[in-house]
Amino acid sequence: MTIVLTDVVKTYGAQTPAVRGITLEIQDGEFFTLLGPSGCGKTTTLRMIAGLESVTSGAIVLRGRDVTDVPARDRDVAMVFQSYALYPHMTVRDNLGLNLQVRRISKKEVRERIEQVARMLQLEGLLDRKPGQLSGGQRQRVALGRAVIRRPNVFLMDEPLSNLDLKLREETRTELKKLHESLRITTVYVTHDQSEALVLSDRIGVMNDGELLQVGNPHEVYSRPADVFVARFIGSPSINIFAGSIRGNGAKPAVEVVGPGDGTGALTRPIDLGWTVTPPSGQVLLGVRPEDLVIHRSAAPDRLRAVVEFVQPMGSVSYAVLRIPDGDGLLPDREHIMAAIGPDETIPHGTVVWLDIRGDRFCLFNSQSGMALTKA
Ligand SMILES: Nc1ncnc2c1ncn2[C@@H]1O[C@H](COP(=O)(O)OP(=O)(O)OP(=O)(O)O)[C@@H](O)[C@H]1O
Ligand SMILES: [Mg+2]
Repeated sequence: MTIVLTDVVKTYGAQTPAVRGITLEIQDGEFFTLLGPSGCGKTTTLRMIAGLESVTSGAIVLRGRDVTDVPARDRDVAMVFQSYALYPHMTVRDNLGLNLQVRRISKKEVRERIEQVARMLQLEGLLDRKPGQLSGGQRQRVALGRAVIRRPNVFLMDEPLSNLDLKLREETRTELKKLHESLRITTVYVTHDQSEALVLSDRIGVMNDGELLQVGNPHEVYSRPADVFVARFIGSPSINIFAGSIRGNGAKPAVEVVGPGDGTGALTRPIDLGWTVTPPSGQVLLGVRPEDLVIHRSAAPDRLRAVVEFVQPMGSVSYAVLRIPDGDGLLPDREHIMAAIGPDETIPHGTVVWLDIRGDRFCLFNSQSGMALTKA
């Protein structure tokens, strides 16, 4: 079922809007994630799609039908919340079947659907237990099952995995992905966890402060962020942002991040941008992901001097945490920069290294507005 939001605004009372004009088209069968920090308006948006929250202005259309003023029960959506309310005195089987009995589906079909959902979510051995006899992850799967069993047109999920521990979260997230692959029910999923969004989604809408900043598939939002906020919010460890400038106002422009003193070098890269979007001052922000910042042991043109603070092992990869002495002005968002190195590599504290960018793997942003610079 397609979901179309047109300029949807939500204002609670006299406050500033919680959602400021979201326009969005979610395709039939798509797994779409709303991602953003706490308070950015994700839950509010989801609740408006569900019909649990009124819309201040704008329109919501489900499968071609304007439902802006249609009550929740007539929208055929199933919502899974962060805190899953299972009935403690009922077995897993009865919890799963409850919504179906209310809908006057035959006993035989109820039984069949319970078995199918239990198989899908690996709950078969647990059907006769009560919620109190289940682990958190098992309870969460029952809550998912209760939504799935209705075979709704749309799933709306609000941080359904957030009170599971990390390991269970990863397992249940795989379960969820499998579920979606097999049922292909349009799903709108809300999370503040960027890795969850990247793993699960067909497309991601990144929100901040009630606005939708970018919509794209996981690769797009990661490698071509629309602005500095999206660039920083997606990816862990987060992207390195340098203050740089555009040089050579002619046929061969380049971006450069000049070191703080003589002999400290400069990160330099030719750029291929339409000049119309280049900020007049020539000042830009240069974003380089940790895996694209290359560490060399020797100086060369186009390399920037840095000093290793320490190395953070992460298992399959390690990160060198680096400082640019006296380079405060170069790093507008934090003191450190991070560069990926091999998992077996160690570099002693205080080692002087030279930084380089892997090929053309960098992004440029307007230093005032934070918007990505792209070819005109
Ligand atoms: N019922 C309400 N009355 C007044 N303000 C509200 C209400 N619900 C939410 N808000 C405000 O609207 C904004 C968006 O809230 P919302 O719950 O949609 O954020 P969220 O992105 O889901 O955040 P979180 O990740 O913390 O769940 C917040 O500033 C919040 O304080
Ligand atoms: Mg929320």
